[in-house]
Amino acid sequence: MTQPANSPETPSPEHADSLAQIGVVGMAVMGSNLARNFVSKGHTVAIYNRSPEKTRAVMEQHGHEGAFIPSETIEDFVASLERPRKAIIMVQAGPATDAVIDQLAAAMDEGDIIIDGGNALFTDTIRRERDVAARGRHFVGAGISGGEEGALNGPSIMPGGPAESWETLGPLLEDISAKVDGEPCVTHIGPDGAGHFVKMVHNGIEYADMQVIGEAYHLLRYAAGIEPAELADIFSEWNEGDLDSYLIEITAEVLRQKDARTGQPFIDVIVDAAGQKGTGRWTVKEALDLGVPVTGIGEAVFARALSSALAQREAAQNIGLPAGDTTTLEALGIERDAFVEDVRRALYASKLVAYAQGFDEINAGSQEYGWGVQPGDLARIWRGGCIIRAKFLNRITEAYERDPELPSLLLDPYFKAELEKGLVDSWRRVVVTATQLGLPVPVFASSLSYYDSLRAKRLPAALIQGQRDFFGAHTYRRVDMEGTFHTAWSGDREELSY
Ligand code: 6PG
Repeated sequence: MTQPANSPETPSPEHADSLAQIGVVGMAVMGSNLARNFVSKGHTVAIYNRSPEKTRAVMEQHGHEGAFIPSETIEDFVASLERPRKAIIMVQAGPATDAVIDQLAAAMDEGDIIIDGGNALFTDTIRRERDVAARGRHFVGAGISGGEEGALNGPSIMPGGPAESWETLGPLLEDISAKVDGEPCVTHIGPDGAGHFVKMVHNGIEYADMQVIGEAYHLLRYAAGIEPAELADIFSEWNEGDLDSYLIEITAEVLRQKDARTGQPFIDVIVDAAGQKGTGRWTVKEALDLGVPVTGIGEAVFARALSSALAQREAAQNIGLPAGDTTTLEALGIERDAFVEDVRRALYASKLVAYAQGFDEINAGSQEYGWGVQPGDLARIWRGGCIIRAKFLNRITEAYERDPELPSLLLDPYFKAELEKGLVDSWRRVVVTATQLGLPVPVFASSLSYYDSLRAKRLPAALIQGQRDFFGAHTYRRVDMEGTFHTAWSGDREELSY
């Protein structure tokens, strides 16, 4: 099927005996693994890549795995698809996606479905959906999580777009998604950009989750002096309890790894400057616009930025900002095993805040854009396949089953009891100890402040309102009567009401 579509010797794919139920454009690892996942479930899959060498390589290595229909032109690719045609784009997010959408839309017909499976910015997805719909085709922005392994063996999938497309596409996506307790980790999230918005926040939570694990590691290593091999065992043990999750599991693997070149712990040969491709940053930018405090995710994004400011960090070390590490756990009278348990609990509590904030942002986004996203559904489809998959998501699913309108995850009776049962005391001790030792814990500390702010009866915001009114006549409201007020600060200080 690699011949040109209109070659006189071969029937065009449109007339071939068997057409593909779905197609994948982009044969880098994510795209080829997704295509292999579809064929492993018995589907016929059309594949196409801009440079045909990649398509040929996939056929050479994996052609025997099932029914692929490779094509070397986009027209052939489109012609090899069953109607309504369904094509998933797995190319680098950005202009490459726009180019492929344009080509597909031109070659497709009314009612065909273009799916973008990359990490697109949701506002781009909204724009693309509008443009594609104007050409009579459907467009579905779908977040796909789980990395290369997930794409092959079962990712968590977050499709947006028109409900009509979900009817055709849903069964195919259910086939290839991860399953937890027999339930597929995919659901229709909502119209236009809803799927990519939710995937964006998923990634923001991923950033916070990774950072809190990093902070726990750092404290255990540099406050408690535990070496990586033993830390690997501690994380493996944690993975048996409340913290059971993919990210804790791989943390143990990374810490257990020895560098083959030097024999040192692998963690010690990695430059401590974290990269980022943008989804965490987008989560925070959007949260700022929506007015939702995602402080844990924000600190996690900034922690990556600070880690990468190598010149600044080096200057600070050399010219010597005074170090805080002049004391030790021992000098503070803290016993090692008790500290390890406190750190585990601080990690759990901070992670809970990150999820609570992420869900707040999703609810606010859904409200703003009119998507009708069901938070309980998200917790359910994140239980398997995705990077933030965790046992704890069962608890979140249950929390939203108990109360779909839950004002904050932190207020769910189960989580509230967990926090009050001892998590908070440990959390406070860990933040205090880290501060005394001069070890940075940006997400542990900011999440604790968020928790304390949320439950506070009074906040210093009253003073801020007073200051704003003083210098700018910005007005304030009173606790004891309706209305808007201003005090004539520079005059007789009489209170005026509006
Ligand atoms: C996933 C991941 C995936 C990707 C991240 C990495 O859900 O499968 O989130 O989308 O690995 O975008 O992001 P950074 O490079 O920004 O850490």
